[in-house]
Formats: sequence, C-alpha cells, structure tokens
Amino acid sequence: MAAPDLIVQNAGELLTLGGPPGPRLGAGMRELGLVTGGAVAAVGERIVAAGPEGEVLSAFPPSADTVVLDAAGAVVTPGLVDPHTHAVFARTREGEFALRVEGKSYEEIAEAGGGIRSSVRSLRAASSDDLLARGRATLDAMLAHGTTTAEVKSGYGLELEAEVKTLEVVRELAKTHAIDVAPTFLGAHEFPDEWRDDRDGYVSLVVDTMMPAVAAAGLARFCDVFCEEGVFTVDQSRAVLEAGLRVGLGAKLHADELHASGGAELAAELGAVSADHLVCASDEGIRALARSGVVAVLLPGTTLSLGKTAFAPARKMIDEGVAVALATDCNPGSSMTESMQIILSLASMMLRMTPAEAMTAATVNAACAVALGDEVGSLGVGKLCDLVIWEVDDHRAIPYHYGVNLVRAVVKRGRVVS
Ligand code: NIG
Ligand code: FE
Repeated sequence: MAAPDLIVQNAGELLTLGGPPGPRLGAGMRELGLVTGGAVAAVGERIVAAGPEGEVLSAFPPSADTVVLDAAGAVVTPGLVDPHTHAVFARTREGEFALRVEGKSYEEIAEAGGGIRSSVRSLRAASSDDLLARGRATLDAMLAHGTTTAEVKSGYGLELEAEVKTLEVVRELAKTHAIDVAPTFLGAHEFPDEWRDDRDGYVSLVVDTMMPAVAAAGLARFCDVFCEEGVFTVDQSRAVLEAGLRVGLGAKLHADELHASGGAELAAELGAVSADHLVCASDEGIRALARSGVVAVLLPGTTLSLGKTAFAPARKMIDEGVAVALATDCNPGSSMTESMQIILSLASMMLRMTPAEAMTAATVNAACAVALGDEVGSLGVGKLCDLVIWEVDDHRAIPYHYGVNLVRAVVKRGRVVS
C-alpha cells in the first residue's frame, strides 16, 4: 500500500458529508458525517481514507515524505463548491450600486442601457489578457475564502466572437488555476443592443450559430439562459436549452429571480441540472423541481446586494424535498462577492437554513449542481482531496461569525494551496 502523500490530522470536527451518490434531501441535509477527532489521508490528488484518526493513521501511517497538517482541533470540511458565478468580466459596476442605494431598481438601470449591457460593452472592448488577469484575481479571492471548485459562465459577450473569447479565458483559468472550473455558455443572458428589435433573431443566432460553435470547440459543459420577464421568455428559453441539450450541454437556468416566470417548471420539464435564483418560484414550480430532481441553486447574496428583503423560499423547498444548493452569483452587477462564507451566513440568517443545511448546500449539493458530485463536495475514499481547515472548532461558527475570513488553510487535489 502506498504511503500517504498528505495527512490532515487532529480535526476537532471532521465533516465528511459522506453518503450515497446524489444530493442530500430534506432531513438528510442535516447529516454532515461528523467525526470527532478525525483525519484524512491522500495519495496524489485523491483521498484514500477519511474518518476517526486512529483508523486512518493505522491504515495509512505517514512516511518521512508525507506532508502532515495538524488541524489542532479545528473544523475540517470539504472544499466549498460555488456552482454559479459570472467570474470573467472586464469592469466592476459600483456606480450602479450607488444608484441602487439611492433608489433606482436593477431593471430601471438595465432599461437605461446599464446592467448586463454595460458589461457587454466593456467585455467586447477588453483584451483576453486583461480578462484573464482579472479572472485570475477573482479566482484567487475565491480560493482564499475556501472555494475549490467553481462554475464560471460567459454571457457578457452576446456575439459569437466575444462569447468564444470569454470561454477561452475560462478554459485558460481552468487549466492554470488551482480551482477546478466548470464552464457554462450563457449566450442568452440578455439581448445585445444590436438585436433588441429582433429578439427572435437573436435567439436563432444563439441556437443555430453560437451553440454549435461553442460545443464543437469543447468550450462549455453547460448552457444557461436568463428566463425572466423582459428578458428571455419561457419559449425562447426552451429553444435555447433544447439546442444545448442536442449538442451535449447540460441545462441550467436563471429562473424566477424577479417574477414567477415559469422558469422552475421549465427546468423540471427539460431535466435541467439546476435552476438558480428561484426567489419568486411558484408552489407548483417548487413541487416540479422536487419531482424531477433538479438542484435549486439559491443566491442570497444577490437578494442582499439588490437591496431586496424577500429571499428565496429555502425552507419550503427543503420541506418539499428539493435538493438545495448555494452559490455566490459572483458578478459585477448584482452580487460582487467571491466569498461562499458570507453566503453561508446569509443562508442561515435570511433563508433560515441551519448551519448544517447550509454546509451541505455549499458542498455536496453544490457539487451536484455542476454534475461533479462523484468527484468533489464530500470527503470520501476516491474523491479529490479538496478540503478546508477552518479557524473555528465548531462548524456552527462558520455562518455565525460573519464578515471575516475564517479559512486557515485550503488543500486542493492533495496540495496545500492557500
Ligand atoms: O445572476 N440575473 C442575471 N444575471 C446575473 C446578473 C448579471 C449582471 O448584472 O451583470 C445574475 O444576477
Ligand atoms: Fe447569475
């Protein structure tokens, strides 16, 4: 048996999140697989043992070459998974934030040419090098806050060339950054200025030209659409996502964020991997998500940043048996944060998710929201050795103590990276 390359020992609370494949549902979201006095052993990138320290160390005694990390009684969890980000953009939009604070709504700013379309203008003008440098800095911040896997969307190009430019930057980040990146094509994020008078024409461009080109170049694993009043209708969204499914891209939706738009129902109908936002999802939409096993990705940072007070109905979803996950929605318009920690806090404070449910939603369920549940999101034998050693000795302190970085160390694929 190979000697371990890495041992993490003396974990006061080791949260393995172990269990059967697939997301945790209902009361299962409170099962953290908590081991008091735990350890993890890895050979290369993968976990070979995780559990009570005595068992792990006797099965995998360290050699002189083993890197041994002493957690000193702290909490150890899987690396956090952020399954919804727009982390590649050219410029921040703090001016719009200030306008919102003064009372302008997100929709008013968008109608006046700001919002996503302002990010489109700056991204089209930006060089790939600039996008890469900014994207790398964003991912660095995510990693420092405990995120080891992230989904990243395009959607600020809205023309073939600029969407491909974005996804090539995402691919370069995936290759060179410690964070594992799941790429999503979001050509249907908004109607660009030049197509606003021919919206079906733009949908055809996405369906007939952009989607096949992106898929043929292997630039995305998922496709996404902003299904919302004033943006893509349910029928337009269906056309986009079906085109993605035809070329092998899993479906994701920005669904029911600002109005009940039928997005959750559409996600269920198409067997989407996830439906995201869902602040205004209907009762029938929630039941449909539960029936179809679509993961609901909730983004409370967006609600907070937009200055709204109605958060997604997380409790109802959990009670109905929906697989609930959490994400930052990291983007320059509606949620400028790289930190899943503040999202865990908001989940407990505003969505009334227990600390255990929030941790499940940010690890194993978030991994399922990017179809990576077999690889990441839990600390089981054979999984990638992605984990966080925290500054706290009780996992409930992670959402409780907010606004500071509680990460002590991050291990990605068996290596200490932060
Ligand atoms: O998820 N809702 C649409 N898209 C983003 C916002 C993007 C932006 O404003 O730049 C979101 O909130
Ligand atoms: Fe988003």
